[in-house]
Amino acid sequence: MMASTNNVILAEDIRPFTSQVAGHACQTDKHSPGMLKHKDGFVLKPLLKQTQAKTELEFYKGLASSPHVDLTPFIAQFHGTAKINIGSYSGEVIILEDVTGKLEKPCIMDIKIGRQTWDPFASASKIEAEEKKYTECKRELGFCIPGFQVYDSESCKVVKYDKSYGKSLNKSTVLEAFSIFLNLHNQKHAAKAIELYISKLEEISNIISKQKQLHLYSSSILLSYDCEKLGTNVEACEWANVHLIDFAHTFTGKSHKEGVDENYLHGLRNLMHLLSQLSAKNKKGIPQVKTTLP
Ligand SMILES: Nc1ncnc2c1ncn2[C@@H]1O[C@H](COP(=O)(O)OP(=O)(O)O)[C@@H](O)[C@H]1O
Ligand SMILES: [Mg+2]
Repeated sequence: MMASTNNVILAEDIRPFTSQVAGHACQTDKHSPGMLKHKDGFVLKPLLKQTQAKTELEFYKGLASSPHVDLTPFIAQFHGTAKINIGSYSGEVIILEDVTGKLEKPCIMDIKIGRQTWDPFASASKIEAEEKKYTECKRELGFCIPGFQVYDSESCKVVKYDKSYGKSLNKSTVLEAFSIFLNLHNQKHAAKAIELYISKLEEISNIISKQKQLHLYSSSILLSYDCEKLGTNVEACEWANVHLIDFAHTFTGKSHKEGVDENYLHGLRNLMHLLSQLSAKNKKGIPQVKTTLP
């Protein structure tokens, strides 16, 4: 149970969320506190814009009774909303499970899926702004990388790659980004996580391809793994995972033209293809981690 009074979370119980890799950052002048972490382990997402807040809340509230309920294992648990008042932000937050909370040295990549990242209700200026961002990746791959963080498995230091790095990527350099993220250059690398990512993404793709009313724009796949477990015999499912996040532009009802979300599926398939390529390359080129018998 969360320590809150009348659904108000006290400022002293929250701190900045250090594992945030993309999205609205803390910007005092824009009254944006960034993602926050509650002392009980939850992640708090500030509801900055009214329309998007409504859209995202409807998604979480409707998930259990929706036709896409099978996506539940891939989505952070939703624990309602609360009010906060910290410095320059006074408003509502969504309370979510921290899907990276169990990782000791969290390596996290936010991959925004879809060639089209604006929703059908977007203004002309929003469409123009979106079309200018991550152009090459979105056009060539149907996804882009707004940010990631990785612990280097040799030095154990965390390195953050932000949106300016993501914007510089194209179809060929994106492989390098994944290679950095997965520590593939190092002796202790996350090759075992790739197979897990592919099978989970396949599951997600199968569910979404059966949906005619679910449309995810500007939504992300969050890949994660624990650098601490590299080189151990622990099964990848214990230290690597795939989640769907960010439903501020996701439509589930009849508000939207019916049809399978080909925009999302195209990006997802390309992502799976890229990971398969990386896996094959890795099996050929890079020595596997030595395993010891139990
Ligand atoms: N449930 C979650 N658990 C852990 N990290 C999360 C969760 N939701 C979001 N994040 C982190 O916060 C970032 C921004 O979240 P997102 O929902 O995409 O916000 P925005 O609408 O600002 O893009 C993500 O890139 C990820 O690093
Ligand atoms: Mg986002």
